Amino acid sequence: MKNILITGGAGFIGSNFVHFMLSKYSNYAIVNFDALTYAGNLENLASIENNPQYRFVKGDICNKDHVISVLRDNSIDTIVHFAAESHVDRSISGPAVFVQTNVVGTQVLLDAAREIGIERFLHVSTDEVYGSLGTTGFFTEESSIRPNSPYSASKASSDMLVMAYHHTFGFPGLVTRCSNNYGPYQFPEKLIPLMITNALNDRSLPVYGDGLNVRDWLYVEDHCSALDVVLHKGTIGDVYNIGGHNEWKNIDIVKLVLKELGKPESLISFVKDRPGHDRRYAIDAVKIKNELGWVPAYQFEVGIKKTIEWYLQNKLWWERITSGEYKKYYAAQYSERE
Ligand code: NAD
Ligand code: DAU
Repeated sequence: MKNILITGGAGFIGSNFVHFMLSKYSNYAIVNFDALTYAGNLENLASIENNPQYRFVKGDICNKDHVISVLRDNSIDTIVHFAAESHVDRSISGPAVFVQTNVVGTQVLLDAAREIGIERFLHVSTDEVYGSLGTTGFFTEESSIRPNSPYSASKASSDMLVMAYHHTFGFPGLVTRCSNNYGPYQFPEKLIPLMITNALNDRSLPVYGDGLNVRDWLYVEDHCSALDVVLHKGTIGDVYNIGGHNEWKNIDIVKLVLKELGKPESLISFVKDRPGHDRRYAIDAVKIKNELGWVPAYQFEVGIKKTIEWYLQNKLWWERITSGEYKKYYAAQYSERE
């Protein structure tokens, strides 16, 4: 492995992964291939833009000719595929782009990679493909695939394409399924950065439904270290769950954010629920721990403090986002909920 193409490297997890890989390895060349949708932000990568190991190419994974020329020109032997539409609420108001990017885009990328011939293709997926849990139990790699939102259905389809290409063509694909991430550079449409930035602006904090839905949170750097381990040591054709056994009810996360920021709970506003809202996610990560020796490094109490501190120190980063197109998005998503 020498030359790695990272798709979606200007997004939240992708940009954290680019930083992670460049700081850990001095012998890899990294090409970041990203369409720069609303979620892609080159400011996330400003500190490494002149690093000779790193190159950015603006491009759409649905454009096969462009993908092939980038793979060829950079002698790519490894792909880590993050590029996707990633927000459940947006998939409810507009599913089409989710099918286009997440399903068609993945298929185009797989075909391009097959045509060129690569060593490894790591497909970054999500625990949401397993659907929703009751109050007990965990998702294992053997759990049924039962996606409930257009977003998770599109991710499940892309996972299955990767596995089918492995089965049919001997394609060197691997799939990871991680729980909810939090940390620096997360777009403030997702729960934790939305609550931090709204609280800092003394705006109301919209909690869906009864606030008792449960998510299993992992600090983004721990996701990156898990991907690194799967990329180097994972078995081709396998699926690996990633999670840190860290379940929280949404309302408790929101209260914790307010406490850390010294803001009153009166900012909380219970709003109309997300249609089809999955009740609980919880990952069983025994396989990656036992087989590949991965363990998360961050306790939630530490990770959430680091995250809040990052948003406090990087006000310009999120103020630029929340002052533009985001305003229209926010009004469309939230005005009818209140
Ligand atoms: P994100 O929305 O922050 O970033 C997505 C990136 O993909 C952006 O930079 C965007 O410009 C790029 N992109 C979108 N369409 C593209 C296209 N057609 N061609 C090229 N680039 C395109 O997403 P994220 O939260 O960083 O998630 C990254 C991946 O990890 C996704 O595949 C997501 O399903 C998966 N995942 C996310 C989480 C989470 O908690 N955020 C958890 C598990 C898995
Ligand atoms: O589980 C992994 C998934 O986690 C990833 O695959 C997705 O890309 C990522 O967006 C995330 O999906 P969720 O739907 O769980 O994340 P979100 O931050 O949108 O919501 C987390 C919980 O908070 C969920 O139960 C809905 C709730 N919520 C969310 C928002 C944006 C609210 O109560 N209010 C809100 O305003």
